[in-house]
Amino acid sequence: MNTAAAVADFRSYPLISALTTVQTLADQVLVTWADGRVSPFHHQWLRDNCPCPVCVYTVTREQVLEIVDVAEDLCPAIAQVDADGCLSIDWQDGHTSRFDPGWLRAHAYDDESRAERSAGKPKSRLWNSQLKLPVFEYQAVMDDPKALLQWLLALRDIGLTQVRGVPTEPGSLTHIAKRISFIRESNFGVLFNVQSKADADSNAYTAFNLPLHSDLPTRELQPGLQFLHCLVNDADGGESIFVDGFAIADALRQEDPEAFRALCEIPVEFRNKDRHSDYRCLAPIIALDTLGQVSEIRMANFLRGPFDASVEQMPKLYRAYRRFIAMTREARFRLITRLNPGEMWCFDNRRTLHARNAFDPTSGARHFQGCYIDRDELLSRILVLQR
Ligand code: OGA
Ligand code: ZN
Ligand code: ZN
Repeated sequence: MNTAAAVADFRSYPLISALTTVQTLADQVLVTWADGRVSPFHHQWLRDNCPCPVCVYTVTREQVLEIVDVAEDLCPAIAQVDADGCLSIDWQDGHTSRFDPGWLRAHAYDDESRAERSAGKPKSRLWNSQLKLPVFEYQAVMDDPKALLQWLLALRDIGLTQVRGVPTEPGSLTHIAKRISFIRESNFGVLFNVQSKADADSNAYTAFNLPLHSDLPTRELQPGLQFLHCLVNDADGGESIFVDGFAIADALRQEDPEAFRALCEIPVEFRNKDRHSDYRCLAPIIALDTLGQVSEIRMANFLRGPFDASVEQMPKLYRAYRRFIAMTREARFRLITRLNPGEMWCFDNRRTLHARNAFDPTSGARHFQGCYIDRDELLSRILVLQR
């Protein structure tokens, strides 16, 4: 029998270690692996994860069973390693489940297996002004899935990349963005044109200096990836500046824990308004994940509403906010480069803050095009490429 068929997934799970013995206890099955690891699996967990075609629809590979529909105290009548090396369970109610050993190992929840999985999770590689900018070639990313994957891994782990050799026809950006997935539209369009305009609906569309910021902090979900593609850059000034927001938040945590806490705890409102729309989002500047790691930075001084904090908290918030902005201005964190036509920035908009110096629109033309893609699309494309 094909053991892969017993997996309710589109990925495959390599055999890391064979199953050797199975012992049935009151509420769990204790499995011993060839490498000596012992993994307990509760009866409920095993029944819940039965991959058979009755419990999982084979077309979608999604579960149809709901665990509440089997007895809470259901026990195996027989639990053993079968001839194919799978864990095979005949349940007391007559149902049978078979578990692929590669899949079972990948989902084992003994302490060692969980610690191993947690250590194997991708980690952000923090950077500062010394970053050797990860640069990728447009044609390679368009033609070669391996080059595409390398680019996407750099986006995930470093959060700042440059792509060169992008055609300078307006709209070219769409083709490379679609190598990842569909584009996230906003009130600024599917693609937005960054140009100095008389009737600007954002400071971005002026020639002003734009301080370090994330785009659309005015939304509940900030776009995950931002693309900025240079078509023309003949004006004096307008250099691009980047900082790793996670590196700054980590440094703040070390150097000024009280300020760090204030930015994690006190929500701030960001607003984007024009004649036709009015977007507002109230959220802290630094977000933490369930493990307490920095997972997101939300920042754009030009989109910020008046602080609304208690009288007691207001001075703390100002102190923390000033400190954070002062850090974004420190040379140790800042990477400054001018973008040339045919070059494109792509970065994690929820981590890497970007800025541009003021430019002189009378000295020449400057035209960038941009778009957004959500982080989910990046992570999904990586997993599919890795299958
Ligand atoms: C923006 C922006 C950068 C630039 O449009 O949000 O940050 O270099 N533009 O013009
Ligand atoms: Zn089943
Ligand atoms: Zn921006």
